[in-house]
Amino acid sequence: MVRLCAVLSLSALVSSALCEYEIKLNPSSGLLITDGNKTLVNNSAILSGSSNTTVVSLKTNTTGLTYTFLTPTVAKVTLNTSSAFHGARFSTASPSTHFYGVWEYPFNGRVDNKNVSFDLKGVGNNVGINWSNARAPFFLTSSGYGVYTDTLKMGNYDFRTPGEVGFVFNSSSLVYYIILPEKTGELKSVIEQYTALSARSEIPPTSGLGPTFWSDDFTQDFHGSVSNAQENIQDVVNHLYAERIRATSSFADRPYGSGNRSWGNFDFDPVQYPDPEGFIQNLTDWGLDFQVWIANRAQRGSKLFNESSPKGWLFPDNHPVGGLGEALNLSIPEAYDYFEEQLSYFPSVGVKGYKIDRGEEGEMPDYVQNEQMALFIDIAYGTMVEEFGESNFFTFARSAVDRSRAKTHIWNGDAHANFTGLAYTVASGIRAGLVAFPIWGSDTGGYTREGVLTPTPEVWARWMWFSAFSPVYELMLGTNHTPWYPPYANTSTMAIMKQTANLHADLTPYIKSYAYVASRTGLPIIRALFLEAPNDEKVWEVADSYFFGEEFLVAPIVATGNTRSVYFPVGPSKSYLEYFSKEAVYTAGSTANITTPLISSPVFVTQGAIIPRGDVYQGNAKWVEDWKQELRIELFPSYDVPVSAFTYYDGEGAEGEEYVITMKADKERKEVSVDLGGLGSEGVSVVWYYRGAEEGVMVDVKSKTEGEKGLVVKGVETLF
Ligand SMILES: *[C@@H]1O[C@H](CO)[C@@H](O)[C@H](O)[C@H]1NC(C)=O
Ligand SMILES: *[C@@H]1O[C@H](CO)[C@@H](O)[C@H](O)[C@H]1NC(C)=O
Ligand SMILES: *[C@@H]1O[C@H](CO)[C@@H](O)[C@H](O)[C@H]1NC(C)=O
Ligand SMILES: *[C@@H]1O[C@H](CO)[C@@H](O)[C@H](O)[C@H]1NC(C)=O
Ligand SMILES: *[C@@H]1O[C@H](CO)[C@@H](O)[C@H](O)[C@H]1NC(C)=O
Ligand SMILES: *[C@@H]1O[C@H](CO)[C@@H](O)[C@H](O)[C@H]1NC(C)=O
Ligand SMILES: *[C@@H]1O[C@H](CO)[C@@H](O)[C@H](O)[C@H]1NC(C)=O
Ligand SMILES: *[C@@H]1O[C@H](CO)[C@@H](O)[C@H](O)[C@H]1NC(C)=O
Ligand SMILES: *[C@@H]1O[C@H](CO)[C@@H](O)[C@H](O)[C@H]1NC(C)=O
Ligand SMILES: *[C@@H]1O[C@H](CO)[C@@H](O)[C@H](O)[C@H]1NC(C)=O
Ligand SMILES: *[C@@H]1O[C@H](CO)[C@@H](O)[C@H](O)[C@H]1NC(C)=O
Ligand SMILES: *[C@@H]1O[C@H](CO)[C@@H](O)[C@H](O)[C@H]1NC(C)=O
Repeated sequence: MVRLCAVLSLSALVSSALCEYEIKLNPSSGLLITDGNKTLVNNSAILSGSSNTTVVSLKTNTTGLTYTFLTPTVAKVTLNTSSAFHGARFSTASPSTHFYGVWEYPFNGRVDNKNVSFDLKGVGNNVGINWSNARAPFFLTSSGYGVYTDTLKMGNYDFRTPGEVGFVFNSSSLVYYIILPEKTGELKSVIEQYTALSARSEIPPTSGLGPTFWSDDFTQDFHGSVSNAQENIQDVVNHLYAERIRATSSFADRPYGSGNRSWGNFDFDPVQYPDPEGFIQNLTDWGLDFQVWIANRAQRGSKLFNESSPKGWLFPDNHPVGGLGEALNLSIPEAYDYFEEQLSYFPSVGVKGYKIDRGEEGEMPDYVQNEQMALFIDIAYGTMVEEFGESNFFTFARSAVDRSRAKTHIWNGDAHANFTGLAYTVASGIRAGLVAFPIWGSDTGGYTREGVLTPTPEVWARWMWFSAFSPVYELMLGTNHTPWYPPYANTSTMAIMKQTANLHADLTPYIKSYAYVASRTGLPIIRALFLEAPNDEKVWEVADSYFFGEEFLVAPIVATGNTRSVYFPVGPSKSYLEYFSKEAVYTAGSTANITTPLISSPVFVTQGAIIPRGDVYQGNAKWVEDWKQELRIELFPSYDVPVSAFTYYDGEGAEGEEYVITMKADKERKEVSVDLGGLGSEGVSVVWYYRGAEEGVMVDVKSKTEGEKGLVVKGVETLF
């Protein structure tokens, strides 16, 4: 038995209640964590065995098992025996307990893992999305705790028995952490503690948040005088400029290089990109970052293959799909160094980040997927940091695992370009948050396009709204899917693309502030409803709406028609205001059918919300003369919330500064006020929303005299 109080007495910060957590071994039923007489965690079996299907509970022989509390709320369990496989099982008191996490992919369209058994590897082709592959050896349960297994070995998680989860890893030693909330029910604090043990996302440059426009194949679908890929990208840039559509980057997916199937020579195809450096410099001058596709695969005939194969660096030809080339075994130090050296060509010519593809298509044995992807992402990150420094480039991968979140952001793979794809994509975004990958985006409109006008303009529009309220807005155009060219030219597509991309750009101050929170706490930006409303039993299974930060409740329309049902969670706010019209108010705990045409989407704000918006990154907006930062702080006071606060993050990378903006609502005096927390006044305004001022009352902070500042409004009836 490990008593906690002895350890805890050293820390004055620990509340006495926590003193009661204890962990003890009960030979017949594994490890129990209790609080007084209450069982909080029932780690009902500790498993070991010679194969992943023959593991058995350790029972009385506990040689090789140690366990202790590391902090008042984190217990560390270590297993190290002569067996090749280790694992554990956790049982809960109720068969209806929900388990979350492990995979980004939403099996069965669900946000939880009900009835799923799968390995901790790339999920592959599946309903709604192919290759939605981010993952982490971490689960979270509605019974109030999380478990993180600190390994890159291959394993399996089995959620098929109601109320239980078991995991087994191919490893002769295993360390796992049982993480309890710092306050009862606060699963957010479990994610914070988990990411403190594993890794947190680096804050991206503002340009990484998008809007980003790219093509799956810039070497085709030429218009006008365009004759190569380089000009094709410039054609996109020119149209975005002409239409005044905000953008911050573009990237070249494969094909762009000269190697076999365009990969492996670490170059640009001279026919398609006659002047890569000049071209990239030009994009930079036009306000856009540029990224390229990379993968660990040695295509036959490429430089990568020809150098690696004779040295024995390649995984033996496993079962590569469509001859895609074996991966290099990056555990071999020479292979690692070689790859790093070759990749460094790209940052040297101005490429600012990678799209990291594959790693789960049979180019290596499955059991090394996690170790190898982690190494590949390390290499990719290293080459970029070397050239640009931390937080100064944007890399995103589809097959990232756990600790790699410190070195790459993610996109959700190849979604189907229809409403099934969108519904699964929304669920995958929520799930990405639950495995603590905060900076996430999806191919707006989907990736798999079957035939003309897929996505339909309706699917595309709904997806654009979802991406506006995603951390990253990225949209694949090109190959007969460019909104300003046929067959889309005469649809609403371009207008809605402009509306949503520009909205996303204007939400950058808000999103970046949450990217900063994510880098500090591990908390995602897209949040499952239960993270914000832990005491509302009705939200445990909701896979089609989410909190975007703490202030927005977002309920994308993921089926045809203009109406969907929205449930308003109890806890974070007594009522919710429809964000765009600023008229309808919905009581927490109620459900309503919300109807919006394609030019809008169901989005709500909480009482007391403070929402920084504005033009803080110029990107391609060279049409704006004398461009200057403009920050607008939207204020939604409610007398139900006497004080609310928002931490606004201004600046790039870790060099920025935080400002705590505070709003007060005094019901007695019918007075609302805001304190900008030291934020300078140049280019800053506040916008009050209250009854009779649904359009907003804008106050230019600079125009106000000291003391007055226009930051106090009297006689206000709030909108809630
Ligand atoms: C635990 O149970 C025992 C016996 O039922 C009881 O005497 C004791 O008060 C309980 N302790 C707590 C903290 O509930
Ligand atoms: C722990 O779970 C096991 C397996 O379900 C069960 O037999 C045991 O009674 C549970 N222990 C407690 C204390 O709940
Ligand atoms: C496991 O135990 C063996 C033998 O006691 C020891 O050599 C090894 O370092 C241990 N491994 C880990 C990861 O603790
Ligand atoms: C207990 O387990 C350890 C490690 O698996 C093993 O070496 C040892 O022989 C076992 N002891 C008994 C009595 O079975
Ligand atoms: C669980 O999934 C399996 C297939 O993976 C299916 O056959 C079975 O019906 C499912 N069970 C429940 C209760 O959904
Ligand atoms: C055992 O390993 C194989 C091969 O990786 C895998 O397909 C299977 O799902 C694993 N089963 C369990 C129970 O871990
Ligand atoms: C630079 O970019 C602009 C805008 O995309 C394009 O019109 C121009 O041709 C490019 N110039 C060069 C030298 O590539
Ligand atoms: C290109 O790769 C394919 C598939 O691996 C292979 O069949 C072909 O021989 C390669 N071409 C060259 C020129 O090496
Ligand atoms: C377990 O890992 C070893 C290498 O450590 C590998 O040879 C073996 O195939 C793996 N087993 C499974 C079931 O994946
Ligand atoms: C989306 O496409 C997939 C694959 O073609 C198909 O199975 C699914 O039924 C489609 N969904 C809708 C809503 O059309
Ligand atoms: C997804 O996988 C299915 C099955 O292999 C395939 O038919 C479909 O074309 C794939 N779609 C994409 C976008 O890769
Ligand atoms: C929403 O619409 C459906 C279908 O018309 C209806 O059955 C349901 O009662 C409506 N819900 C509410 C809360 O109005």
